[in-house]
Amino acid sequence: MLDATHAALTPAPSAPAVIRREDYTAPAWTVPTTTLDFALDPAVTRVRARLSVERSGAHDLPLRLDGAGQRIVSVAVDGVSVNEWRIEGEQLVLPLPGDAHVIETEVEIAPERNTQLMGLYASGGNLCTQCEAEGFRRITYFPDRPDVLSTYSVRMTADKARFPVLLANGDPVAQGDNDDGTHWAEWHDPFPKPSYLFALVAGDLAVNRGTFTTRSGRTVELGIWVREADLPKTDHALHALKLSMAWDERVYGREYDLDVFNIVAVDDFNFGAMENKGLNIFNSRYILADPDTATDYDYDAIAAVVAHEYFHNWSGNRITCRDWFQLSLKEGFTVYRDQGFSADQGSAAVKRIEDVRGLRAGQFPEDASPLAHPVRPESYLEISNFYTATIYNKGAELIRMMATILGPERFRAATDLYFERFDGTAATCEDYVACMEEAGGVDLSQFRLWYSQAGTPRVSVSLEHEPGSGRATLNLAQKVPDTPGQSNKQPQVLPLKIRLFGAETGEALTDEQLVILSDASASVTFETIPERPIVSLNRGFSAPIVIESDRTAADLAFLARHDDDPFARYEAMQQLMLDTLVAATIEGKADHEAVIAAVADTLDNPELDPAFVAEAVLLPSESFVGDQMSTVDPNAIHDAREALRRDLGRELEARWRTAYEAGSGRAYAHTPEDKGRRRLRNVALGYIAASGAADAAKLAYAQFADADNMTDRQGALTTLVGTHSEERDAALDIFYQRYQGNSLVLDKWFQTQALSSADDTPQLVAELARHPDFSLANPNRARSLIGAFGVNQRAFHAEGGAGYRWLADQLIALDALNPQTAAKLLPPLGRWRRFDPTRAALMRAELERIVAHPGLSKDLFEQASKSLE
Ligand code: ARG
Ligand code: ZN
Repeated sequence: MLDATHAALTPAPSAPAVIRREDYTAPAWTVPTTTLDFALDPAVTRVRARLSVERSGAHDLPLRLDGAGQRIVSVAVDGVSVNEWRIEGEQLVLPLPGDAHVIETEVEIAPERNTQLMGLYASGGNLCTQCEAEGFRRITYFPDRPDVLSTYSVRMTADKARFPVLLANGDPVAQGDNDDGTHWAEWHDPFPKPSYLFALVAGDLAVNRGTFTTRSGRTVELGIWVREADLPKTDHALHALKLSMAWDERVYGREYDLDVFNIVAVDDFNFGAMENKGLNIFNSRYILADPDTATDYDYDAIAAVVAHEYFHNWSGNRITCRDWFQLSLKEGFTVYRDQGFSADQGSAAVKRIEDVRGLRAGQFPEDASPLAHPVRPESYLEISNFYTATIYNKGAELIRMMATILGPERFRAATDLYFERFDGTAATCEDYVACMEEAGGVDLSQFRLWYSQAGTPRVSVSLEHEPGSGRATLNLAQKVPDTPGQSNKQPQVLPLKIRLFGAETGEALTDEQLVILSDASASVTFETIPERPIVSLNRGFSAPIVIESDRTAADLAFLARHDDDPFARYEAMQQLMLDTLVAATIEGKADHEAVIAAVADTLDNPELDPAFVAEAVLLPSESFVGDQMSTVDPNAIHDAREALRRDLGRELEARWRTAYEAGSGRAYAHTPEDKGRRRLRNVALGYIAASGAADAAKLAYAQFADADNMTDRQGALTTLVGTHSEERDAALDIFYQRYQGNSLVLDKWFQTQALSSADDTPQLVAELARHPDFSLANPNRARSLIGAFGVNQRAFHAEGGAGYRWLADQLIALDALNPQTAAKLLPPLGRWRRFDPTRAALMRAELERIVAHPGLSKDLFEQASKSLE
């Protein structure tokens, strides 16, 4: 009753404007040069901007500068203070008589009150910026769109004791002291860039320096800037940076172009990192590492993100995006490039498995949800909502498919053409594909549907064999599912790597072939196939699709044993596990024999790399099993999966113990071999615990207590957290005490508990939200609890809907501080269609409550309202 009255009195928020790709028009005014002068102060920073502007083409449109949240002090045109300006919405609109003018503005902003972490903000006592996508307008008035490229000169003045280090884009020009305790520095970036690549940092920072000599002999000064105490944790990032610079020269022919390259780590950051020209700013979790605080996974993620941001210097900065609908032009391509880099550092097969696992965990569900969108979207309310797995990871798969179709030499020729032709410009996805076509000598007309059609294609496969004639026929049929606003889709171009193996002999019956399926259905025939063939399909995950095949459990077990493509081998094992778990969930029947035999075989094979074995023997996650079902029953899935885990643990206990022992008793070393052993050891520990062995908690606790590195310690903690034991509570306590004050490690403490499969996770998570170390103001901390809980299928969907209510409460509270980070955590609520009517109604009710909340950001409004459709 009270609520209803309140709702009636609250004015409906005016609907945010839809931005459409088809409405793109070139900028009416360009800004060849930009000069910025910052008087930096956390409470009030004064920003003076001097823009040279030029009318572009014949028109009489006024100059429109974007702004947000600043206090305007003065506006001058050609040196004269003027009053003929107006504010329309958040734009500063200036009618200008001539074709070229100089605009000067002065504004004030308040970095320490900036909780959204967009624009100029304070983090850990330092000042830093984040401008992509539309943060620059929160710093000064500017045409804040990626196709306005300008050359920047920046001057910063700040208190010298508090902010001894002053950094900006490009190269340092000059610096000096003032008499009043302040100092100043000037930086100049010779490369024209869009405003989203602007950055500055002012702080009390220490630096780990290095140098890199480019292939043409230029020496680049490298610097990783962190707080003094973190300096010992920066060697890995610096090393990864040097490897990345050499790799991009070798593999893509791309050389670095400035005299300095700086990276700054900050604790409060909305996402992973940012590729600002010459001054990358990173979430500290993607820089800081030492064996005591970072897992092997963290080390790999650091190298991958350092590489990613570095590679953006060409794929993103030298060539940027014309508009934000083209975001995947830089992100998809750059993810593809960083994946290639990581594959070259260790096992390419394991890297591909990890990437596909990530795609299935993050992008496939998005493609099947109300938030599904094409790799090149048609419209948005808030661009921050489109930094998605579809843009990044599916986008990378599109590049990979084109590379597969072209082959390595022609792909390299095509990227050379792209970098040469579009250097210094703001380009489109179409420009990229046209280069692939031209240098590759292929027609990609139909391939372009990958950019415009959302949804994960499904391919059904059957194989027939006539023993008499020796002919085998592979029948393929594809279907692209409907997604919001898109139905009756056209067939796409699917590059499928396939190979046939003989069911009797285990021999390969054909070479690997690339079959391009571009029709709704097609058949491929093979002659002189002497025995019943089994098809190994979509090898290397050559197309990002779902396969529905008629292969039996025996066929899959066969491939898991004999396939020569490690990815296909892994895939066969996963499919076997998935089929087993789906059958057990639906029919309640538990036939575990085939999986147990295949896992045993894999563990017994001395030729396999332990890192591969660790991946191959892991069961698909509960949510991935749920993704296969029309109605998800979280408890049935959990029970089925736990039963299989227990049987695997029991039946193969001796083998798990052998694998466990093989990884034990070695001092920490960060080599690929040791990483593989640690990974398999942690997986083995999980199965020993799943078996119900009486000593499991003791074993895990001993690993926890004796660990000389975080991989072992966190692996043991994860296993303990899933048990009900006194060891669990002791370990959580010790871990907390030991790492109090280390926020990155405390994030792990929160996250491990929120991901736990134990029965009491929902209550525990609610309690953790009241823990003194929990805070919504720090995005890493918010994600470690809220984000992890949202993907814990069983806990989040526990009967009664308390999890849904809790998530909605957290999102509403977080939205008031940081809309972008809140909106990122909403998608689990949008999956209501996949659940039973009771759960679906509870989930919808929370979405409706969010949408109706007064003062909601457009970020969260867009995600919640679309999720209800
Ligand atoms: N360009 C950055 C990167 O991928 C990420 C920027 C994310 N921005 C955002 N508004 N979510 O390296
Ligand atoms: Zn990126």
